[in-house]
Amino acid sequence: MTAVNPASVAGRLLSSCSPIIVANRAPLTLEEADPILGTPERLVKGSGGLVSAMSTLAQATKAIWVAAARDGADEALAARADENGHVALEDSGASYAISFVHPSKEAYHLYYNRISNPLLWFIHHYLWDLSREPVIDSRTEHAWRAGYVEVNRLFAQRVVEEARAAARPPLIFFQDYQLYLAPEMVRRELPSASLSHFIHVPWPNPAYWRILRSEVREAILTGLLANDVVGFHTHQDVRNFLVTCEDLLHTGVDFGQAMVYFAGRKVHVHAYPLGIDVAEMRAMAKAEKTQEWFDRFAQSRCEQIILRVDRTDLSKNIVRGFLAYERMLEAHYELHGKVQFIAYLQETRQNIDDYRSYLGSVLSAVARINRRFSSGGWMPIHLEIESNIHKAVSLYRQYDVLLVNPIYDGMNLVAKEGPVCNERDGVLVLSENAGAHEELGEFALTVNPFDVDQTAEALYLALAMEPAEKAARADRLRDVVERNDVSDWISAQLSDLAMLATPLHLWR
Ligand code: G6P
Repeated sequence: MTAVNPASVAGRLLSSCSPIIVANRAPLTLEEADPILGTPERLVKGSGGLVSAMSTLAQATKAIWVAAARDGADEALAARADENGHVALEDSGASYAISFVHPSKEAYHLYYNRISNPLLWFIHHYLWDLSREPVIDSRTEHAWRAGYVEVNRLFAQRVVEEARAAARPPLIFFQDYQLYLAPEMVRRELPSASLSHFIHVPWPNPAYWRILRSEVREAILTGLLANDVVGFHTHQDVRNFLVTCEDLLHTGVDFGQAMVYFAGRKVHVHAYPLGIDVAEMRAMAKAEKTQEWFDRFAQSRCEQIILRVDRTDLSKNIVRGFLAYERMLEAHYELHGKVQFIAYLQETRQNIDDYRSYLGSVLSAVARINRRFSSGGWMPIHLEIESNIHKAVSLYRQYDVLLVNPIYDGMNLVAKEGPVCNERDGVLVLSENAGAHEELGEFALTVNPFDVDQTAEALYLALAMEPAEKAARADRLRDVVERNDVSDWISAQLSDLAMLATPLHLWR
């Protein structure tokens, strides 16, 4: 675990406040014991960059983490709450607590499967084919009111309860696109609380927000502007957010200071590029279980490996990655039998039609390409769909090329985790639309994620790159990732809050 220096501004703020993290997903989920496999019950880390980032904060600060009980597994964990409604957790040797909110099944379904993911996530990542979709109608309106507004209300209510019960002034950290309305609801009850909201996804330009009805997009913006600080991964997102506030809310915006004036308050908008916990990642790379997977793969590996590690999300652009690889194989017969594309994927959001059909497209692309090129025991693509962090890290250690080609992505931590674990001076092929590109682009091979010919060429250049150039690039990638660790991300946000938010003596 990476700690925040207690003597720093950030550390002093933390020791005088009670941090409350508010995110849809709890950091850990309960995996039941399996009597057939003989595996014991265990707590596993949830997926996505948000969980890894905020777990570090929770571990460092003993925060309360407010999350939704999303399913039976979360309910089983929630049943262990003490009389204050807190489930105590041990995570990486540190303790903190989860405070679950309990939306009805129907409300959660509308909030998660109708609004947050198929609508807001699609807007954030420019995923709509606008000539056909989305169709906004009374069902959208119902899902918004009975799902999104309702679940945000439940979150806000719980946050207010936790803040009022806290021993010290609360520092409230809202996370992501599922909770845009909660800050305004909390602000109404706790006018002098310190609120920040970090958005882990890209912020699109204002024209794309016009997909939503004006009341809905305005509610999103006014909800967010109830915070003291709104954080993004990149400067591009900050710019897009400021323009959106100006265009859609007609409110005062200071582009130089990155500030929005709204309802008599100043809201600071800032880029905090998320880093990884480098020490934890390195420890994971050395772990015994990782080594076991490493040895297994090492025995059967091809001469060169192209790797991708992703959730099966439409924004990750998995199918175009395979198409690019197919074109590379068409052009370079000499690589047949010598290279293998390993796609280590994690199933995601399978209650949503578009996600299920996207997974279908991924599977059929793999089957088709394997049918087309397999020969003499060589299979061009090796696909695994599961979630095992040790296995993923063992693959990070041995790739020659890491393909990270999202259509759009907030940050993309795979692009940072891979280079710090890799032992072969592997080359990063990186989409210009991944947030990570702002920091890592110079030392990666940049691709336009839509251009499969260019991506094919980049894959080939990466495989053929001279060892000295590979080593120099890998060195610089590691260096950039090391210099902006997750603890820097946390400290930067805390320092800003310490300067900007309500002075502590005015609290209550
Ligand atoms: C992304 C989002 C997170 C989300 C994660 C996993 O990283 O920014 O908010 O938690 O994906 O998605 P899920 O829907 O499974 O929580």
